[in-house]
Amino acid sequence: MKKIAVLGHGVVGSGVMEILTRNRKLLERQAGEAVEAAYVLDRRSFPGLAYQDRMIQSIDPVLEDPEVAVVLEAMGGVEPAFTWLSACLKQGKSVVTSNKELVAEKGDVLLALAREHGAWFLFEASVGGGIPVLQPMRESLTANHITEVAGILNGTTNFILTRMFGEGASFGEALALAQELGYAEQDPAADVEGHDACRKICILASIAFGSHFCPREVHTKGITRISAQDVAWAARWGGTVKLIGRARRTADGRAALEVAPMLVPNSCLLSRVDGVNNAVRVTGDMVGETMFYGPGAGKLPTASAMIGDLVTALTQPANSRPLAWGPEKPGSLQPWEESIAQAFLRVSGMDREELETFYPGCRFLDGPEGEELALITAPATQGELDAAGQAAEAAGGKVLSRVTLLEDDR
Ligand code: HSE
Repeated sequence: MKKIAVLGHGVVGSGVMEILTRNRKLLERQAGEAVEAAYVLDRRSFPGLAYQDRMIQSIDPVLEDPEVAVVLEAMGGVEPAFTWLSACLKQGKSVVTSNKELVAEKGDVLLALAREHGAWFLFEASVGGGIPVLQPMRESLTANHITEVAGILNGTTNFILTRMFGEGASFGEALALAQELGYAEQDPAADVEGHDACRKICILASIAFGSHFCPREVHTKGITRISAQDVAWAARWGGTVKLIGRARRTADGRAALEVAPMLVPNSCLLSRVDGVNNAVRVTGDMVGETMFYGPGAGKLPTASAMIGDLVTALTQPANSRPLAWGPEKPGSLQPWEESIAQAFLRVSGMDREELETFYPGCRFLDGPEGEELALITAPATQGELDAAGQAAEAAGGKVLSRVTLLEDDR
């Protein structure tokens, strides 16, 4: 029998326990012997659980039991997870986690510890919920230099946008339902302000480009200012608005990372990813464009990814798969202001002729007669677009919204 421990009995941790029970026989076949969660750690108590006798409130029994081979962590947050998992790795216990914040902040350190102590540190569930994307990127796409990773990386915001603009729900109603379904973070600001997607694009970029990227360095904007007018204009233009995380290799070899609502053309598969689903588009220099799609959040999909990693940790020699990256490289991130983009703008208080002086080469969109105009700018740096907006506002205009285009305007 293989002994494991589960840290955290929230949405994902309880999902892990459910899969271990429901698919017990299947897992026994795949792992070569029975798998038992000998310890389930949570500060809360859950009266009536079938495994009540295995609930613990301190990490000590896990650290004191040499038979625990793998620790699955679904508590979230950097601490105490970092301290506890570091201690497990130092004992040679493998670690599987769904904790995006931890991997985005400390992934390079934990990977190094795992290497040093002959253990696994695996985190497929930290990006894209149930979608297999991290291991395929490192294994199946290993022949490629990855040139871009872009995708819908947060289920809650995609669920909210789909409900608001597809079904007319209010922001509050859509968020409450996402919370009820177990998609949202404990503090939903992490979802709606883009921080969760930022952690995930940092993990993807670290894998793609081989060094650690820190969320605090990445330009991040959430969905709270996206309005029905933006979505209506996007539809007239031939697309929709999605919260996108994107990491690109720049011509000078740096990396450009950002998270923001973006205008996505209907011709792009990402425009059709709705509800809690996520999709990650990975572009390699040899393979071209690939797409990974599926449920990006939720109890069983996320737990499914953790159990996949668990079976790897139980059956394969530690670190026999090339999932690793080095420490942060100063200067490797292009400042957002230097990145070149086209933007969609809604502006009031100015006519076309005046606007063209601030946005030379722009293209106006056809729409209803009214106080506002909508346009697509010519390619410019984000810094130049900031400056043009400030100048237009100083001259009496009002920039009502600015949304970056995912693809160049046709
Ligand atoms: N809150 C996250 C989301 C959970 O909505 O995508 C999955 O990481």
